[in-house]
Amino acid sequence: MRIGIAFDLKRKPFSNLPEDIFEELDSIETIEAIESVLKNAGHETVRLGGGKDFLLSILNTQVDIVFNLAEGLGGRSREAHVPSVLELLGIPYTGSDPLTLSLTLDKGMTKRVVGSAGVLTPKFKVLSDLNSLNRDLGLNYPLIIKPLWEGSSMGIRRDSRVENFTGLKKKLEWLINSYGEPALVEEFIEGEEVTAGVIGNENAHVIGMMMIKPRIGDQRDFIYSLEVKRNWREEVEYISPPPLSSHTLDELSRSALLAYKALTCRDIARLDFRIGVDGKPYFLEANPLPGLNPETGDLPIMIEKEGIPYAELILTVLYNALRRNRLAAKSRARV
Ligand SMILES: Nc1ncnc2c1ncn2[C@@H]1O[C@H](COP(=O)(O)OP(=O)(O)OP(=O)(O)O)[C@@H](O)[C@H]1O
Ligand SMILES: [Mg+2]
Repeated sequence: MRIGIAFDLKRKPFSNLPEDIFEELDSIETIEAIESVLKNAGHETVRLGGGKDFLLSILNTQVDIVFNLAEGLGGRSREAHVPSVLELLGIPYTGSDPLTLSLTLDKGMTKRVVGSAGVLTPKFKVLSDLNSLNRDLGLNYPLIIKPLWEGSSMGIRRDSRVENFTGLKKKLEWLINSYGEPALVEEFIEGEEVTAGVIGNENAHVIGMMMIKPRIGDQRDFIYSLEVKRNWREEVEYISPPPLSSHTLDELSRSALLAYKALTCRDIARLDFRIGVDGKPYFLEANPLPGLNPETGDLPIMIEKEGIPYAELILTVLYNALRRNRLAAKSRARV
């Protein structure tokens, strides 16, 4: 098969943009790793890039399917740009559709949908500007404050946990001034952090779970922040499967699948949770375009610990997408 790869490469922030503005974009090593898996499986690959480059290349290139990694640039619908164009042109692609990709980028919308499916998620408020902040938010401190539609911990720092109204006001000012978008303020869940990988469609299942544990400091205050993600080798330990009771693991797995289905994710997603003081998993957010760098991506790190080769993960995503589009080729899902 001839497989196009859509992607946006990391670049250096310019002018007065926040230093993490391109944090979620891919490195060339990720594209090379995926290309190499697809080529080794006998496919031909074509680099389509992202943004305007993608528009030009997709109009001038014949492909059977697109492996979509494009994070896009812009507001909360940016991840929907490439899939929308592909739908317009009738070209199949891997992963979720524009609605799911836009929905899951907006953390407030995501939590409303996932919460309505019966999955626990921390109580929250969306604050669009400084005027919408008042002392009576109806939330219990400590709180965490995050940009409403970012990923890769953009806008989430070591000090994003706030203990009182003064701290919240200060952090809200910083966030709105730096990122120019609404903030999600939610109750801080002090327990263990676990991320779950889900794969498939009608056969959707959890392929693994991984605990993200701080090497330094107390678990209860831990934030998997921008600083920690950039310095993960020093600051965190990844444990898979998570050392939790089988009851908690079952609850996590059930919640991850419920969230995946409620958000109508396709082919692949990674879902983040914290365990509450009540021992129950609380859903934080969903990543239907999870980082796939073979060395640094949470999902690739997790499946390696589970004994699943990287190539198998990538090919399973492809084969699930082929099967969904009723395309032939060795479309047997592996994991
Ligand atoms: N309600 C919460 N309680 C405790 N910690 C939280 C909460 N929300 C977020 N965090 C911490 O902040 C981190 C980043 O938050 P979140 O996963 O929402 O951001 P993200 O930028 O979308 O992440 P990703 O890199 O997975 O895309 C979490 O991994 C967790 O450590
Ligand atoms: Mg996350």
